[in-house]
Amino acid sequence: MTSNYTNRQMTLREYPEGRMPEASDFEIITGPVPEPKEGEVLCKSIYLTVDPYIRARMSAHLSGGYADRVQLGQPIGGENIAEVVESNDPNFSAGDIVATFGGWQDFCVMPGEALRRVDPSLAPISAHLGVLGMPGLTGYAGLTVKADPQPGNTVFVSAATGGVGTVVGQVARIKGCRVVGTASGPDKCRFAVEELGLDACLDRLEGNMSARVAEACPNGIDINFENAGGEIFWAALDNMNQDGTMVICGLIDSYNDDGPQAGKDASMELLRQIALKRLNVRGVIVSDHLDLYPQFQADVGGWIKDGSFKHAEYVVEGIENAGKALIEMMNGTNFGKTVVKVADDPSQ
Ligand SMILES: NC(=O)c1ccc[n+]([C@@H]2O[C@H](COP(=O)([O-])OP(=O)(O)OC[C@H]3O[C@@H](n4cnc5c(N)ncnc54)[C@H](OP(=O)(O)O)[C@@H]3O)[C@@H](O)[C@H]2O)c1
Repeated sequence: MTSNYTNRQMTLREYPEGRMPEASDFEIITGPVPEPKEGEVLCKSIYLTVDPYIRARMSAHLSGGYADRVQLGQPIGGENIAEVVESNDPNFSAGDIVATFGGWQDFCVMPGEALRRVDPSLAPISAHLGVLGMPGLTGYAGLTVKADPQPGNTVFVSAATGGVGTVVGQVARIKGCRVVGTASGPDKCRFAVEELGLDACLDRLEGNMSARVAEACPNGIDINFENAGGEIFWAALDNMNQDGTMVICGLIDSYNDDGPQAGKDASMELLRQIALKRLNVRGVIVSDHLDLYPQFQADVGGWIKDGSFKHAEYVVEGIENAGKALIEMMNGTNFGKTVVKVADDPSQ
């Protein structure tokens, strides 16, 4: 049945080392639709994810270990929401909606155990790439396991309207914290306050961050959830309370760099402040917390259903625009969690 189809794959033609990716770095290639063998499932992509780690994996110094580098000429890796087209695994049938790391392509063949079933009744299925998926779990686990927020704490979160930040900010609010975020531009900042319920959101493009954080956090910061790095990180550090916690989740400000930037003085100042303020610095990697998926989806899915949790999605149409969508996410002209729609959504 699939012989009438071709498989479009979005590939990387050139590594964007030390710079923002450009449209000409990406190239669509086409090939045959793969055939599933015993135990395998053929999946047709509906939504592709666009996440910061995809950019990081294009750089030599940020990939390796558990994060393989994107290979030139191969489909760019990432999670998809897909429909099962043909299944040789008894646990899945044609028409099932699943999440799987199939990459930026129309079709992929995966072993059944690499599929995560998606519940369309919880929220639009695309949300399983964002607030109900990997980014959301990162925010949920990073905040609750690594920081244990208490009512009355001040929580500061960068990229507050994105996949991770949307969950951090609202879980912190639901736990009774004062929440201050950052985002770029007045529209996102307004959304963060009026829809996500943050106490304040600072436009990161306006500069003078440290003084503005101090004004927005008059009692200092108890928990900084770091998604950005750069000026935002230093502003948070300046305003940390003694014994506060910094959850280091991501450093998107550095993902277009070509390696660690020289900075002995900066690293010494960082360590000095950690010591002076007796800070707890906790790293978070989402793959350590997959056991929390059921609890996380029940909590966030429940809050979405009862209307107490909001989220925005930035839907870009067409696989040919996936590279453009990545560039928009990296420069902040997206609004909400970025996904690329590549086929009709059967749940709509
Ligand atoms: N540790 C883990 O396991 C894990 C898992 C998932 C994600 N992460 C990290 O978490 C962070 C957020 O990821 P996400 O998926 O939720 O992405 P996202 O927020 O949906 O998209 C990235 C956002 O980062 C902001 N940004 C871009 N350049 C920036 C800069 N130079 N300085 C400050 N902000 C900048 C932009 O928002 P504004 O323009 O509105 O500020 C952009 O929309 C990333 O650093 C990512 O690498 C870590």
